[in-house]
Amino acid sequence: MTHVNPAQKQSEKALYGGTGSRRITVRDIAAAKGRAEKWPMLTAYDAMTASVFDQAGIPVLLVGDSMGNCHLGYESTVPVTMDEIALLSAAVVRGTRRALVVGDLPFGSYQEGPVQALRNATRLVKEAGVGAVKLEGGERSAHQIELLVQSGIPVMAHVGLTPQSVNAYGGYPVQGRGEEAAQQLLRDAKAVQDAGAFAVVLELVPAELAAEVTRSLHIPTIGIGAGPDCDGQVLVWTDMAGMTDGRVPRFVKQYAQLRQSLGDAARAFAEDVVGGAYPAEEHSFH
Ligand code: KIV
Repeated sequence: MTHVNPAQKQSEKALYGGTGSRRITVRDIAAAKGRAEKWPMLTAYDAMTASVFDQAGIPVLLVGDSMGNCHLGYESTVPVTMDEIALLSAAVVRGTRRALVVGDLPFGSYQEGPVQALRNATRLVKEAGVGAVKLEGGERSAHQIELLVQSGIPVMAHVGLTPQSVNAYGGYPVQGRGEEAAQQLLRDAKAVQDAGAFAVVLELVPAELAAEVTRSLHIPTIGIGAGPDCDGQVLVWTDMAGMTDGRVPRFVKQYAQLRQSLGDAARAFAEDVVGGAYPAEEHSFH
């Protein structure tokens, strides 16, 4: 059952539920904030899964460096390389027709400064065909965002918990708790907006603070563990669909149990093979 607000469904322009079929751009994302429209975003790391989400109408797909944990078997996002992001971003672009595809700049690909950020972001736009890039950090990444935007590359910012700093945090703690931390988060969000970011991810932030940031910015906020008042909501697809092995964060809602279903399918296939039930006559050529 879908729960699309009827006004949203009637609007050809609606990011989710609308009837437009051309590829979504950052201008469409900006316009949705003017209509107070809420919208979904998912991660994707391959063409086939991306095509499922694209056909389901998900307007924005992030080729996140969460591919480190979810797709490539690393322990965190830190080891992910530009080559890996570029390869998988190109696959996601090929698998989609409508979604805006955002390529994540991995750890070490923009921290040296704006010129390094521009070189790597340009690669994702030219080689992979992404429509925008994402990078982590508020005030500390403002110069990078400014140069990318001046160079014609749309930037999605990411503040609050920034997983590439896991070694500095010593884990994944909620951010923005307490007056001083909340003020810093507001400054970070304003800094990325002023630098020209078209949207900002708020990760693991108290709901009340995320609501305040959303009210005070003219660019959309995209929450992950940041309460219900953000303009958009993003989840890592393997968490959302029950594909992740083991515990998922408390903010995740699981909409399927794909890990169980896929395991069941693999076991059923194996039993048919060892029992001789597969292949049957209809699967054979003569
Ligand atoms: O890499 C990623 O998937 C992300 C999202 C969790 C926002 O940064």
